[in-house]
Order: sequence, then C-alpha cells, then structure tokens
Amino acid sequence: MDMQNDKHSIDLLHAQAHIWNHTFSFIRSMSLKCAIELQIPDIIDRHGAPMLLSELVEALSINKERTNYVYRLMRILIQSGFFVTQTISNGKEEKEAYLLAPVSRSLLNQEPLSTSPFVLGMLDPGLMEPWQHMSKWFQNDDVNPFYTTHGMMFWVFAGQDSKHNQFFNEAMASDARLVTSVMLRHYGDGFKKLNSVVDVGGGTGTVAKAIADAFPNISCICFDLPHVLDGLNGSNNLSYVCGDMFEAIPKADAVLLKWILHDWNDEDCIKILKRCKEAIPNRECGGKLIIIDMVLKNDEVSQNSLETQLFFDMVMMVDQTGRERTEEEWAKLFFDAKFGDYKIIPILGLRSIIEVYP
Ligand SMILES: C[S@@+](CC[C@H](N)C(=O)[O-])C[C@H]1O[C@@H](n2cnc3c(N)ncnc32)[C@H](O)[C@@H]1O
Repeated sequence: MDMQNDKHSIDLLHAQAHIWNHTFSFIRSMSLKCAIELQIPDIIDRHGAPMLLSELVEALSINKERTNYVYRLMRILIQSGFFVTQTISNGKEEKEAYLLAPVSRSLLNQEPLSTSPFVLGMLDPGLMEPWQHMSKWFQNDDVNPFYTTHGMMFWVFAGQDSKHNQFFNEAMASDARLVTSVMLRHYGDGFKKLNSVVDVGGGTGTVAKAIADAFPNISCICFDLPHVLDGLNGSNNLSYVCGDMFEAIPKADAVLLKWILHDWNDEDCIKILKRCKEAIPNRECGGKLIIIDMVLKNDEVSQNSLETQLFFDMVMMVDQTGRERTEEEWAKLFFDAKFGDYKIIPILGLRSIIEVYP
C-alpha cells in the first residue's frame, strides 16, 4: 500500500504531531520568560535598527559562547510572533537581523503599560509547580492543586513568602495599569456621579490611585489584606485600608472588584457580594458595583480568544477555588446575592466591565 492511501498511518502521524505540539507548548511560555529576563525586547528596541545576532549577543549579559543558542532562542520566538527578521547587506554579504514584532512593544520595560511583570509573575515556579500535581488533586480531597503543592491557600502563601507576594502584586499592578488606562478613556462617565469608590482586593492600589488622580473629587479606598498593603501610604483623596472582604467592606458609593470574583467559588462570591451590597447606597442614590472580569461567550470570540479565556478558567481551578463565568452564571450570582439588575460593558478585550445595581 502506498503511503498516500494508508489513512491509518497518516492519522497516526498526525496524532503524534498534534500530541508533540501540546507536549512542548510550555516552550512558548518558557522562551518568552527567558527573553524577558534577558531583556531581549528592550535591547533590540534600544538598538533602534535591525539588530544582527552578533550585536545582540554582544549587548546581552550572557556567556559570550552562547551565540548559537541565542540564535535558536530567537528562532522559536520569531516562530511565536515576538520578533521578525529583516535581511540587511553590507555590500559584500547579506545577513538576517532582528526587529520587534508589534506585540513585543507590550513587553518593553520602559513601556508604562508593559505586560512583562504579568508574564514573570504567572510563570514564577511557585505558580508553575501546582500544574504538576493536578492529577494528584483530582484523586485527593484538597481544595485545589495549589494546596496540594504548597500545603496552604494561595493568599496565605502570599502572606508568608515575600518574593511570591512581590511578584504577584507586580503582575497584578501591571495588568491594572493597562486596564485602568482603557477604562478611564472609555468608561470615565461611569465614575462621574460618584463621591467615593472602594477597590476591594485592590492590590497595591494602581486602580484606586488612577481614579483618585483622574477624579480629585472622588475619595478612593484601596482595600486589601495586610501583607499586600504593608508600607503603602495614601495621599489627598486616596487611602489604604486593610481588612477581610468576607467580614466587612468600607462604605462607598461604588465598589470596584477587579479580578476578584473569578478567584472564588459561587458560595464565597455570594458572601463577598452581600458584603459589597452592605457597603453601598441603594440604586437611586447611585450605589453600584463595578466588576472587571471575563464573561465567557463561546459563539462570539475567536477560537484563540476562547482558548485564552479557558486557560484563565484552568488557572482559577488550579490556584484558587473560582472559575470564569458565562453571563447566565454571573446573573445567577447577582440575583442570589439579592442585587436587582446588571449591565455588561464589553470594552476590555477578553474581559468586560459589569455594572451591578442593588
Ligand atoms: C487576583 S488579585 C487582584 C488584584 C487587583 N484587583 C487587580 O486586579 O490588579 C486578588 C486580590 O484580592 C486580595 N484578597 C484575597 N483575599 C482577600 C480578602 N479576604 N480580603 C481582601 N482582599 C483579599 C488579594 O490580596 C489580591 O490582591
């Protein structure tokens, strides 16, 4: 039988190639992490022109015998869409030189809205290790694979391991800078009638500070656990308040919850939402929640976007107790917590703003 007609062999080889691709998918994220740690995007950007391999190796803080390995790292990063090559000639010979692909501008250190801290935070070994224990967790009684790995919950671990705490908070802050810049441009009116806002689980205060700066008449509170707020000082209309959102939340016209509810299971979300409801005035007096989270919508997003959303859902399963939710699942939570209505404002890429009214 010739190979072209041997469907069984062709299917087996396709299957093998598909499985190989998935087996080594981690190489995409690990190569990206390596490039960020070596500051390759910044070095190529600073060069200001297509950069030869020899120039790149010279500029990197590495063992200079690694030239050929740098070539191989760059080749996979080009394949992943982070760099492009351009042929340059010195009159005698032609050589390939590297340039940033457009997405890599978002990796630059000097870029205020850089995504690099998020990459480094998420790929920190403390967050990678639980993936090795996912099947063990499916067979045991632990709350999540993170617990199976570290013997404690994520936020307890963050309170005990200062390096993890710092990496995670910086990852969140980098995302908060990007989200805030889009939110203030496209949702500024959402803050106009408010006198006060509390950002619950507000991390180190990036969002609260940006709102306080943009709206000097709004008094803003960043509310989070003590180890997150340690050493932070407020200013005119910004204050930091430590506490536990399951117990009580400082009163304000609006409660902001960015990337909070997806961390928690439905039961805990309802508890948090009830504490939020106690903190705000009624709808007629302007009380509302401003939630920033994903709304899963299988039919409307591209397959790539859906896969990214499902990656986040898996992260919530492995590290937390939460999940990414569809509109129906969000609505159920809001109504179970006795809120009256909600509105989804899909202006944040894979995430949305959800206004929820008492
Ligand atoms: C995923 S992070 C989101 C941080 C920030 N909202 C952002 O998106 O940039 C969740 C935050 O919730 C905080 N958090 C966890 N449990 C909390 C609790 N019981 N009370 C208050 N904050 C809590 C964490 O410390 C962390 O800063």
